[in-house]
Amino acid sequence: MRNEAIGVFDSGYGGLTVLKELRKALPTNNFIYLGDNARAPYGTKSYEEVYVNTLEAVKWFFKKGCSLVILACNTASAKALRTIQQNDLPKLGEHRRVLGVIRPTAEVIGEYTITNHIGILGTLGTINSNSYVLEIEKFFPQLKVVQQACTQWVQLIEDHNQDERLVAEDVNRELSNLLKKDATLDTILLACTHYPLLLPVIEKYLPPQINVISQGEIVAQKLVDYLERHPEIENNLAEDSKVDFFTTGNVSDFEKHASLFYEQAVIAAHTKIDDLQNP
Ligand code: DGL
Repeated sequence: MRNEAIGVFDSGYGGLTVLKELRKALPTNNFIYLGDNARAPYGTKSYEEVYVNTLEAVKWFFKKGCSLVILACNTASAKALRTIQQNDLPKLGEHRRVLGVIRPTAEVIGEYTITNHIGILGTLGTINSNSYVLEIEKFFPQLKVVQQACTQWVQLIEDHNQDERLVAEDVNRELSNLLKKDATLDTILLACTHYPLLLPVIEKYLPPQINVISQGEIVAQKLVDYLERHPEIENNLAEDSKVDFFTTGNVSDFEKHASLFYEQAVIAAHTKIDDLQNP
């Protein structure tokens, strides 16, 4: 029976930049989006906290009838995905799938560079996990990868009223730090789903020959390929072109700011952290 939505999860608003591309690539499918805004940001949380929060969200999606959940959050993909796939999914149902954003990105990132020198920008959690370096090594061992944790960026993006000058200074500082590590890089990956919101500022401070890559389109194309290879999952997916949005935070705040990321008006519902903890 075709009655399932695809679950899309992020710590807050960032996953909406991925959802936007998923909708373009899979326009007839149904999606349920959950932003854990009440507990964002995840980038500075411990492995244990990110894992516990993410697992709670995954179980919430399963309860909502989604057998396929995309962690549209690099931090959750880096710190929780493997444990959920290896330890929890076997107990929660073999037919269920949880996918992240790091592997699909690592599989193609080498196709964007000519110099074979790339830079990764991400949260402290993603960068310290070294997940990108390890995954990219499997697919493109010739690449030289440097990384920079942009510790303030998610907060700067989530606090929508930040002084533009302050944002510009911080962006410029982190980009200079990255370029100091490797001046020959020609490709920078925004390895946090929030960061596309800073793209205009980022591009302003970078030399024009550097290519800046956001993940949304890559993840969407990889999901299309995945569903083609997995008809047993695809055959259960509803096709009413419906999207339901949920936040653990304040609904009117979420609706107001989500449209910046999603580029369309968003009507959301609240879900309590308690609902996540006792699905
Ligand atoms: N969008 C999340 C990511 O891709 C942000 C994580 C956070 O909440 O710090 O990593």
